Amino acid sequence: MQKRALGSTGIDVSVLGLGTVKIGRNQQVKYPAGFELPDDDSLIELFELAQSLGINFIDTAPAYGSSEQRLGELLPNRNDWVIVTKVGEIFEGGISRFDFSFEYTLKSVEQSLKKLKREMIDVVLVHSDGNDLDIINNEPVFDALEVLKNKGLIKAYGMSSKTVEGGCWVVENCDVVMATANLDYDDEGPVLELAKELNKGVIIKKGLQSGHADSASGGNGVENAFQHILKQPGVSSMIVGTINPSHLNDNVRTVNTILSS
Ligand SMILES: NC(=O)c1ccc[n+]([C@@H]2O[C@H](COP(=O)([O-])OP(=O)(O)OC[C@H]3O[C@@H](n4cnc5c(N)ncnc54)[C@H](OP(=O)(O)O)[C@@H]3O)[C@@H](O)[C@H]2O)c1
Repeated sequence: MQKRALGSTGIDVSVLGLGTVKIGRNQQVKYPAGFELPDDDSLIELFELAQSLGINFIDTAPAYGSSEQRLGELLPNRNDWVIVTKVGEIFEGGISRFDFSFEYTLKSVEQSLKKLKREMIDVVLVHSDGNDLDIINNEPVFDALEVLKNKGLIKAYGMSSKTVEGGCWVVENCDVVMATANLDYDDEGPVLELAKELNKGVIIKKGLQSGHADSASGGNGVENAFQHILKQPGVSSMIVGTINPSHLNDNVRTVNTILSS
C-alpha cells in the first residue's frame, strides 16, 4: 500500500486508512444494516490484517463509543500506527452534544491520551457540528489545540469540516482537513484544490457513502467509489470503515490496482 505525506506534518500515511466507528458504536449510525460490535479477538485479527496489507492509519473519536478505549487496550503504545482522534463532539446515552470550549478541549485530549494509552497523538481534528464558521469565529477550540501542539502532546491539528468556507479556512490556518467526497457529493472540491496548492493534509471521510456506495445497497459500486476519490487532487488518505476482513482485503486490492494503473 502506497504511503503519502500528510501535507507538511512530516507524517506519512497509507492511502487507505481504517475508520473505527463500527468497533465502538452501533447506535445512531447510518449504515445500510445493523451490526454487533466485533469482539477483541476479531479486532486483533483485523488490525493485524490491516497492518500486513500496509495500512498504518487509524481514525477514531471520543464520539465513537468505546472506539478509543478499545484501540488503547488492543494497540497500546504502538507508535507504528498513526492515529487521528477528535475533539468537540460528545456521544452519551445515545445523544450527541458539542463543546468547543478551551477547557473542555484540553480535558478531551487528556482523556484521549489516557484511553489510547499514548504519550502523544498524531492528529486531532475538531469534530464539526455542521456550523464550521461559527466554531471557527466564535470558539477557542483552535487556540487550545495550538497550546497542546506547543506542549508536544499532539503533532498536528485541523478539522473534520462540513462546508467549503470552513474547509478552506482550515487549510489556510491548520495542518490537516478531513473532508467528505464521494460519488454523490463533490461540493468540497475547492477545499481539496486549495489543500493541494498549500501542501496541507487531506483525509477523505464517507468515501463509500457509509456503505451505501455498495451496489448490493443500491449504490454505484465500491470500485467506482474508490476510482472517483483517488482521482481527486491532493488526497493524502481515504478513511474507510470496515469490520469485515474480506471487505478490507478487497478494498486494499482495489486501491492498489487503481494506484498502479
Ligand atoms: N469526522 C466525521 O465527522 C466523520 C463522519 C463520518 C465518518 N468518519 C470517519 O470516516 C470513517 C468512514 O466513514 P463511514 O464509516 O461513515 O463510512 P464509509 O467508510 O464510507 O463506509 C463504511 C461502510 O462501508 C462498508 N464497506 C466497506 N468496504 C466495503 C466493501 N468492499 N463492500 C461493501 N461494503 C463495504 C462497511 O461495512 P463492513 O463493515 O461490512 O465492511 C461500512 O458499513 C469512519 O469510520 C470514521 O472513522 C468521520
